[in-house]
Amino acid sequence: MKKVLIATAAMLSLTVFAAPGFAKEDAKAEFDKHCGACHPKGGNIMKADKTLSKKSLAAHGIKADKDIIAKMRNPGPGMTKFDEKTLPQKEAKAIADYILKTFK
Ligand code: HEC
Repeated sequence: MKKVLIATAAMLSLTVFAAPGFAKEDAKAEFDKHCGACHPKGGNIMKADKTLSKKSLAAHGIKADKDIIAKMRNPGPGMTKFDEKTLPQKEAKAIADYILKTFK
């Protein structure tokens, strides 16, 4: 029981403190590194109708950061799969927030 409590407390502190601590520049750098090759400036060099613009995302049912993270974990054809090992949840969320804020 004590272990469970500690784990829960650790997870809570991660959710509360980790996200804001992830600087904007880091998210941009992570995006450029992992996604930029296929999605330069939020576009899509492989599938022109699946860009990261708000409009395109909404048209494909992607409305929130969790939907973008779901895409990374389980992408469509042609896209690299990013599992928890490659992109831990914290980084995945930072990238997702960056996309939502950056590409209109
Ligand atoms: C190897 C090229 C490649 C890389 C790297 C890549 N993607 Fe993609 N991405 C694609 C392709 C191709 C699609 C369209 C897949 C489909 O048809 O469902 C796509 C689609 C998407 C979509 C859905 C867009 C829409 O309008 O429906 C999101 C969101 C997305 N990618 C996010 C990311 C993120 C975040 C990263 C980096 C962590 C990333 N992608 C890295 C190729 C890539």
